[in-house]
Amino acid sequence: MYRTHTCGELRSAQAGLTVTLAGWVQTVRKLSKSITFIDLRDRYGITQLLFGEELSQQLTENPLGREFVIQVQGEVTERTSKNAQLPTGDIEIKVSSYTILNKSMTPPFTIQDDTDGGDDLRMKYRYLDLRRQTVKKNLELRYAVNRAARNYLHENSFMDLETPFLIKSTPEGARDFVVPSRMNPGEFYALPQSPQTFKQLLMVSGYDRYYQIVKCFRDEDLRADRQPEFTQIDCEMSFVEQEDILSMFEGLIKYIFNTVKGIDYTDHVERMTWEEVMWNYGNDKPDIRFGMKLLNLKSAFTLGGKLTAHGELIKDAGFGVFDNAETVLAIAAPGCSEYTRKQTDELTEWVKRPQIGMQGLVYIKCNADGSLKSSVDKFYSEDKLKAIAEAVEAKKGDLILVLAGREERTRKAMSELRLEMGRRLGLRKENEFKLLWVLDFPLFEYAEEENRWVARHHPFTSPKPSDIGVMIENSPVIAEAEKYLEHPYNHIKANAYDMVLNGNEIGGGSLRLYQRELQEKMFAALGMTPEEALHKFGFLLGAFEYGAPPHGGIAFGFDRLCSILGGSESIRDFIAFPKNNSGRDVMLDAPSTIDDKQLLELSIQLNTSGRDSL
Ligand code: AMO
Repeated sequence: MYRTHTCGELRSAQAGLTVTLAGWVQTVRKLSKSITFIDLRDRYGITQLLFGEELSQQLTENPLGREFVIQVQGEVTERTSKNAQLPTGDIEIKVSSYTILNKSMTPPFTIQDDTDGGDDLRMKYRYLDLRRQTVKKNLELRYAVNRAARNYLHENSFMDLETPFLIKSTPEGARDFVVPSRMNPGEFYALPQSPQTFKQLLMVSGYDRYYQIVKCFRDEDLRADRQPEFTQIDCEMSFVEQEDILSMFEGLIKYIFNTVKGIDYTDHVERMTWEEVMWNYGNDKPDIRFGMKLLNLKSAFTLGGKLTAHGELIKDAGFGVFDNAETVLAIAAPGCSEYTRKQTDELTEWVKRPQIGMQGLVYIKCNADGSLKSSVDKFYSEDKLKAIAEAVEAKKGDLILVLAGREERTRKAMSELRLEMGRRLGLRKENEFKLLWVLDFPLFEYAEEENRWVARHHPFTSPKPSDIGVMIENSPVIAEAEKYLEHPYNHIKANAYDMVLNGNEIGGGSLRLYQRELQEKMFAALGMTPEEALHKFGFLLGAFEYGAPPHGGIAFGFDRLCSILGGSESIRDFIAFPKNNSGRDVMLDAPSTIDDKQLLELSIQLNTSGRDSL
């Protein structure tokens, strides 16, 4: 038997017991000729070993290095100086004999919570990084979320069904990863961006509650919350309305909160329409742990057709920046009126960074004594400033921040500035979790470069019943590209919903199209000819002719959910073997070239010279 106990298990109740432990040498501390302490680590914890005089002598002749794998026998003894930081800190093992099971080279970084290893080094030696308790805690959380999701879905009659990884390339949304087929020269499989069409086919087959915790592959630019291969909790249900889906999956997330984090999320999950969130927060995944809502100071803001009267407040003051801007947006940052010149200058620099891309920042200080001071005093009287402050619901002591410019850019910039101020003011609390359903997304989005409509969620999403007529009766053709906002398709709403947690989109789904004619109409709306639609999705159109039930579903970003619950910005920390920012596995050194023989077998000839012109 290699071990009687693990390194995380022994307590003073076991004092006197003779035990065998096995694990990795984390540290060796030689106190004197006759005493050496070793911290022995395994998956479960760390136990202190005490090597007495005779064994310490052996260690001098034959030293144990960091990360050696050893087995020790000895007696559990109560420590004289206890370590309250360690669960096993009351005891140590008085070692009577030990065996080296395997040696280790000196590791390239220290394998402790506070490691000295940089990102790249730790990625290259990920198998060593994974030995660190902090990383291990993340993977344990991941496993806990996985188990909780499975339990909940199983209890609710969902069936875990696998779907294939080698499928057909139908890029729509992200780019596909493709796999050449040796047996079919010149032909390629694609790796699934999600099991979308398969889960729908399973509904047609009558498996009315499906789930899968499944890998998805998307060849897109990476960010902290995106990986080229990531995992979804993918679900689909038949004979449901939107309300059934929302309540089932609120239940799932609440169950995960409760089981994994001990959080009893009794609050009602807030719901807002896409128009509301865009209007109030400037983006479709707002962090609603704090307010600081956006106010549009121009009346020409078209979103949702809502007009405000605030244009009057800034009009006719001769301030060209506001007068000529498409949009002027304001927020009131609570308690910041005493910002110094240096601080407002720094914020101005912040909005001018290329990632934010604004020309400048206007501020209005709402002083504690009720007076107002702004960077545009020249143009706006105190009365006008007061009216603006009232409109944005600023209180005494607040700092109003105003951005002006092109509508989309300004909206994005203001939503970033709001998040940044929320962060600086400590309003984005790590241990507070706020869920939000965003509903009624637009069905289409206009892709300027291609001069066509693309599906905002995906082409299998159904329009709101009241908008079906608009889709059927209108041609998708846009005569004048710049007038796309006026096209009826721009106003069609989808039966689509996203779940947002603390400003992150953790899940998204929709009620699907399930009638062939409507699905064909959708493909046509996206600019596909009937032949193309048949070539790409003939299997689905065919299936819809054999009794397809009404159905809908959702997929959660499993890695994202874990990283938020674990309090980290990066999903990489929650994936055992992640890719770096360039999509590389630096440990495997992949992707890599393959040899000529493999290329020949696959009938592939490389031509890298034309790439730049793509
Ligand atoms: P969607 O594309 O919205 O929907 O994806 C669902 C969720 O997956 C997560 N996600 C990602 N996580 C990490 N890295 C990525 N590159 C990445 N891309 C997406 C997000 C997102 O909310 N088939 C549909 C779902 C459906 O309609 O049922 C789909 O895949 O958290």
